Amino acid sequence: MIEIKNLTKVYKLSKKKMQELKTKETIKRAADNISLTARPGEIYGLLGPNGAGKTTTLRCVATLLKPSEGSVSVCGYDTITQGEEVRKNICLLTNEIKLDPHFSPKYMFQFFGKLHGVDDETIEKRRKELFDYFGISEFENKKIEELSTGMKQKASIAVSLVHDPKVVIFDEPTSGLDIITARNVTDLLLKLRDEGKLVIISTHIMSEAEKLCDRIGVIIDGKKVIEGTLNEILEATQAKDLEDAFFDLYKEHHKEEK
Ligand SMILES: Nc1ncnc2c1ncn2[C@@H]1O[C@H](COP(=O)(O)OP(=O)(O)OP(=O)(O)O)[C@@H](O)[C@H]1O
Ligand SMILES: [Mg+2]
Repeated sequence: MIEIKNLTKVYKLSKKKMQELKTKETIKRAADNISLTARPGEIYGLLGPNGAGKTTTLRCVATLLKPSEGSVSVCGYDTITQGEEVRKNICLLTNEIKLDPHFSPKYMFQFFGKLHGVDDETIEKRRKELFDYFGISEFENKKIEELSTGMKQKASIAVSLVHDPKVVIFDEPTSGLDIITARNVTDLLLKLRDEGKLVIISTHIMSEAEKLCDRIGVIIDGKKVIEGTLNEILEATQAKDLEDAFFDLYKEHHKEEK
C-alpha cells in the first residue's frame, strides 16, 4: 500500500528557473497538500499537465526526494525514516533510466539481481520469464548500445523487476515508445496488477489513463483536484469523457486561483 498524507514539496527557485516559470515567486509548491492511498492489485494513475507535480510526487514515494511537509509510507514503511525498507519493495521506472551501454541485458540483469541479494536460481528463472515476455532473449548477449530504443527500454524494465518488487512506480510508462512497444509495456503493467502488485504511474495521456488505470487522481498545479474510477470522475463532472472532464476541472481550478 502507498499512503501519501498531506504531501507538500517546495522547491527553491534559481533566477533561471524563475524566468523559465515566468514567476516572481522564489519558491514553487510542486506538490501542494496531496493525500492519496493506492492499494495492491490496482493501477493508480496520476494524471496532469506538464509541471503539475506528478514526477515530484512519484520521486517522494520512491525516496528520491524528501517531502517539505507531510508523509509518505510504502508497504507500511516511512519513506524518510525507513527508506531502505521502502527501496527493497519498490522499483522506479522512468524513460531516463539508462543501462550501461557497454554491457549486455543478461549481464545487467544478473548484476542487479546480485545487488538486490536475489539467489542465482531465482535470477535465472525471472530472467527467462521477463526476457521471453519482452522478446529480448535473442538479444540478451548483445551490448546495450547496439539495441534499438524500444529494446533498451524493455531491457531496463526487465532489469528493474529483478527483485520482484511489490510496488511498481512508473513515471510516464509509454513516453517515447512506438505503439507496439507501448502496448507491450502497458500489458505488462496489467499483468503485474493481476498478480496483485501495486502499480502507480504518471501520465498526461487521457486514453492511457482511461484504458489502463483502475483509479485516477487528477493533479493540477500541485493539487489533487479529483480522484476516483473513470466512471466516478465522469459522474462527478457530468462530462462525456476524461478529456472533457479534465478541461472542466482545469478551467474550474484556474477560476479559483484568480
Ligand atoms: N529541482 C527543481 N527545482 C525547481 N523547480 C522544480 C524542480 N523540479 C521540478 N520543478 C518544478 O516543479 C513543478 C512540478 O514539476 P514536476 O516535474 O513534478 O511536474 P510533472 O507533472 O512531472 O510535469 P511533466 O508532465 O512535464 O513531467 C514544475 O513547475 C517544475 O518546473
Ligand atoms: Mg514528469
